[in-house]
Amino acid sequence: MKLPIFSLRHEINRLASRAEPFGGRAGEILSAAAFAEAEREITAWPGYMPTPLVALSGLAEALGLGAIHYKDEGQRFSLKSFKALGGAYAVLKVLRRELARKGTQIDGVQELLADRHRTATKEITVCCATDGNHGRSVAWAAQMFGCRAIIYLHAGVSIGREAEIAAYGAEMRRVAGGYDDSVRIVAEDAAVEGWFVVSDTSWPGYEEVPAWVMQGYMVMADEMSRQWPEPEAPTHLFIQGGVGGLAAGVAGYFWRVQGAGRPRTIVVEPEQADCITRSILAGKPAPVPGDVETFMACLAAAEMSPLAWEVLRPTVDDALIIADDCAAETMRLLANGVAGDRPIVAGESGCAATAALIAACGNEAVREALQLGPNARVLLIGSEGATDTEIYRSVVGRTPEEVAGAV
Ligand SMILES: Cc1ncc(COP(=O)(O)O)c(C=O)c1O
Repeated sequence: MKLPIFSLRHEINRLASRAEPFGGRAGEILSAAAFAEAEREITAWPGYMPTPLVALSGLAEALGLGAIHYKDEGQRFSLKSFKALGGAYAVLKVLRRELARKGTQIDGVQELLADRHRTATKEITVCCATDGNHGRSVAWAAQMFGCRAIIYLHAGVSIGREAEIAAYGAEMRRVAGGYDDSVRIVAEDAAVEGWFVVSDTSWPGYEEVPAWVMQGYMVMADEMSRQWPEPEAPTHLFIQGGVGGLAAGVAGYFWRVQGAGRPRTIVVEPEQADCITRSILAGKPAPVPGDVETFMACLAAAEMSPLAWEVLRPTVDDALIIADDCAAETMRLLANGVAGDRPIVAGESGCAATAALIAACGNEAVREALQLGPNARVLLIGSEGATDTEIYRSVVGRTPEEVAGAV
């Protein structure tokens, strides 16, 4: 099958260092103990199941690669994205911390699920800004654990995504500007109101919560390691970059577990929102000036998380920057399945890693630079399913259920 040719930009991270031992700030945030705690709590949530790792042999053959495996986060709880692991885990940790401050120590999530502390938890308000999926995770956890949630949406968040979050009983607030503006506004309001901000991005003096968010994402990384079916480890990891928390959680996990043998880590960003790439080139977190609106709505971040930077500086090998139109085409391609591959429901941001792999393989220079040949065993992150069903249907021409039903 002939695959489309997509344009792309490739940048190398000159600060990456395979020799650097796991430790320092990354070692503190993403330690084995932090992972063990996140795994123990998250796997106890109702409905927890590892999401599938799907072999895409047809796509691998069409691209001339050894193997491709796709982590399908569209099947994560009822939330349809990996974000269910991070924001929700941070809500749990905030509740545990606040209950402890009031003199109540809880052992773990079962105590909250059993409603034993509802009188105390319902006095606690968590809040956050979101592009869609993080807010859904926070709202879902607030409902599950019995506290109040207030979710801030910037102008670019679709009505469909707003409705999905509101369905978890959260109070919704629309604010002007982009994601980064909404992050600032919620922090200001929370300081006045005494709410607890559960942000996926960090800023000076605010690191504990975003570290918990990244710890939750490590559960996905661990699932993939266990599920990986090839005799040899993955050679490449293609992963989306928004504020960088997802990439940091996963790359940090592989750094700890595999050391220098970790896969070549390639962060994928939309051309309008390439804050991680800019940071790599600048040698420090660097913002995107101006508007970051993109079809890959959940990747629309103008500023990366400084905490994620601590992990990504040594671990990201390359950045690939792609255009909006290749994401839409890749959503359709995954829905149809290449050469007998199982149809996959991937949202606008969820398909970005796959789009970048196709783009890279279609460009001789990039393909060679990334060593994408018959010995490559690629791990692709499918970070979300159809988190906005209307947009999905308008792009793919079928509903998510119709696509999934064609399996
Ligand atoms: C579906 C999806 N993919 C990728 C990302 C990027 O994650 P991060 O912002 O942690 O880099 C997000 C963030 O919201 C997302 O919702």
